[in-house]
Amino acid sequence: MVNEVQGVIAHAKGAGVTLETILVPDPGPGEALVRVKACGVCHTDLHYREGAINDDFPFFLGHEASGVVESIGDGVAHLSVGDSVILAWRSPCGACRSCLRGRAWYCFDSRNARQQMTLADGSPVSPALGIGAFAELTLVDAGQAVKVDPRARPEAAGLLGCGIMAGLGAAINTGGVSRGDSVAVIGCGGVGDAAIAGSRLAGAHTIIAVDIDDRKLEWAKGFGATHTVNSTQTDAIEAIRELTGGNGVNVAIEAVGNPATYEQAFFARDLAGTVVLVGVPSPDMTVTLPMIEVFGRGGSLKSSWYGDCLPTRDFPMYIDLYLQGRLDLDGFVSETIGLGDVEEAFHKMERGEVLRSVVVL
Ligand SMILES: NC(=O)c1ccc[n+]([C@@H]2O[C@H](COP(=O)([O-])OP(=O)(O)OC[C@H]3O[C@@H](n4cnc5c(N)ncnc54)[C@H](O)[C@@H]3O)[C@@H](O)[C@H]2O)c1
Ligand SMILES: [Zn+2]
Ligand SMILES: [Zn+2]
Repeated sequence: MVNEVQGVIAHAKGAGVTLETILVPDPGPGEALVRVKACGVCHTDLHYREGAINDDFPFFLGHEASGVVESIGDGVAHLSVGDSVILAWRSPCGACRSCLRGRAWYCFDSRNARQQMTLADGSPVSPALGIGAFAELTLVDAGQAVKVDPRARPEAAGLLGCGIMAGLGAAINTGGVSRGDSVAVIGCGGVGDAAIAGSRLAGAHTIIAVDIDDRKLEWAKGFGATHTVNSTQTDAIEAIRELTGGNGVNVAIEAVGNPATYEQAFFARDLAGTVVLVGVPSPDMTVTLPMIEVFGRGGSLKSSWYGDCLPTRDFPMYIDLYLQGRLDLDGFVSETIGLGDVEEAFHKMERGEVLRSVVVL
């Protein structure tokens, strides 16, 4: 059977998104059909709409979602109908060269549903990050549906499916932030604030939030920033050094995706420190760094894909921390909206009015 639902589609670079009929097949072997309960609007959705990821239009947007398993295909043993799940855009294949080396969080062949979702005329859509969840139903590889405690509020839980996991993991998994560290987070949207929350969870001593918007800096304090720097008023590098005894931070996390902020992160860290790039650059961006500084500062320059997470390990754990009151996922939900409000949510994001607008279905 094919299920007919309304979904949010980006048809062309820069064009406003539209709500259209999407045909979602019933699950085949190894697949799961998920009834979406909530899906956050991530900056990566906007990157897709702007053609900054690739040109495979039309995109079926939405990838930060939680829901309930509607039906499963043959051979799916780990899920039952009715399970509460968070959708992951990483479902390690277990067979690629990275999985075989025991590094499944880098899996180079992450699985997605094999059957295609289409527009009403049968033409295929490209689901954002292999999900496509701004719709009542979506079809995923069963490994992308990660079971979590059903007591978690869907609009908060779904955020772990992308941006919040990316930020938490950028600090904890990629950056290796630990007790007593100093950390700077440049860009305090949903991803950056999650990196701040992750740094606090990991026991960082100093957490410096940098943004160009005072409202964002105020919110960052709520997630654990011990200091804030508005980089339109102060030189971010100098301010970070001043707050760390003239040395710079142990871990500098870039959560914008921009050459200027990457350079700030590079120069704002202490000797032997770590730079983590979690912001997604567009293909035309370049950075030029003095090679002697790359060498002389030592440490490491890392990129963080999805916070180097293992969804099956990390999602249930962070949901438990949330239910214990130790991780404020609710604080990221700025507003709940309907499926028809995604375009307006992009504008609110651009104006800096929200951390996350979350579509509730
Ligand atoms: N690596 C991953 O796996 C992953 C996952 C999800 C999102 N992302 C990326 O992370 C980035 C942030 O996503 P988000 O959803 O938090 O976006 P967002 O738009 O909510 O937040 C971006 C923040 O950066 C701030 N900012 C913009 N320019 C700045 C500058 N020059 N200096 C300092 N701050 C500046 C904005 O004021 C805003 O607070 C995006 O590039 C997104 O694509 C990466
Ligand atoms: Zn793999
Ligand atoms: Zn995302």
